[in-house]
Amino acid sequence: MNVGRLLESERAAVEAGLERLLPPGDAWHRRLNRAMRHAVFAGGKRIRPILARLAHAAAGGDPDAITLAACGLELIHTYSLVHDDLPALDDDDLRRGRPTVHVAFDEATAILVGDALLTEGLGAIARYPEGASWAPGRARAVALVAAAAGALGMVGGQMEDLEATGGVDGPDAAERLQRIHRHKTGCLLQASVELGAVLAGVEGSGRERFARFGERLGLAFQVADDLLDATATAGEMGKSPGKDEAAGKLTYVTLYGLDRTRRILEELEAELGLLARELEGPDGALGAVASFVCRRQS
Ligand code: FPP
Ligand code: MG
Repeated sequence: MNVGRLLESERAAVEAGLERLLPPGDAWHRRLNRAMRHAVFAGGKRIRPILARLAHAAAGGDPDAITLAACGLELIHTYSLVHDDLPALDDDDLRRGRPTVHVAFDEATAILVGDALLTEGLGAIARYPEGASWAPGRARAVALVAAAAGALGMVGGQMEDLEATGGVDGPDAAERLQRIHRHKTGCLLQASVELGAVLAGVEGSGRERFARFGERLGLAFQVADDLLDATATAGEMGKSPGKDEAAGKLTYVTLYGLDRTRRILEELEAELGLLARELEGPDGALGAVASFVCRRQS
């Protein structure tokens, strides 16, 4: 499996879907549309919609049928980045190698861009794929993604992460760290894998297997993120590195050190390989993407 080529063609399908979902930059409201496009078309990896498409294929579906719903996940992910970068949260002026939305436009616009992307993202998952036969899948998908992005998922995780800034230690530090990652990053990644399965009609223990793969992948993703923040340069990352430590943030690296964090990630990669094999057999696309996530350099 050539994962580079796979990701390239997957990304092209996702870019085309996003282009269909977003209003053109010269349509009403121009400033809002231009700012949304600035946030969305900035060269993201598109991991979430790609995972949804690949999980759908692994469950026997046609990935092209669910691209627009999968792109809804990317809109929601992008909203979270735009708001996360705001001065009141992480106060970042660089994202994906470009000025963040509140720097390129202004803070009020960045807040509205986030509001719009979240709403449009859920709307896309509610509307697509079109047709009555998809209606039960669409309803399940919307509920699943709303739960993952909401107060008991990503937003709750972000809240606990804010609380943990400035240093958390003591006996429950590791547990808190896991909980933050599980919610802040893991829930939406897991929901991405699950969305692909649910839209293929997979329920029950089959769905749980996809969910488990997504959950472990979400954790691996964040451990890799912590490693990158500690070791990469701004050019490699497209955002400011070293911010976690400077902000006194609880991360795998600040808690366990570099070597142990690398070992944790290796173990996760091995576990993901086994889980992927159960879902799609040997040498499948989900397994390849899981390895890519664990080894990514940006
Ligand atoms: C990088 O994704 C993003 C994360 C590691 C997720 C971080 C989670 C938040 C910022 C939650 C914020 C929530 C609120 C409500 C503000 P990526 O590596 O896929 O980035 P890319 O899309 O640029 O490739
Ligand atoms: Mg941030």
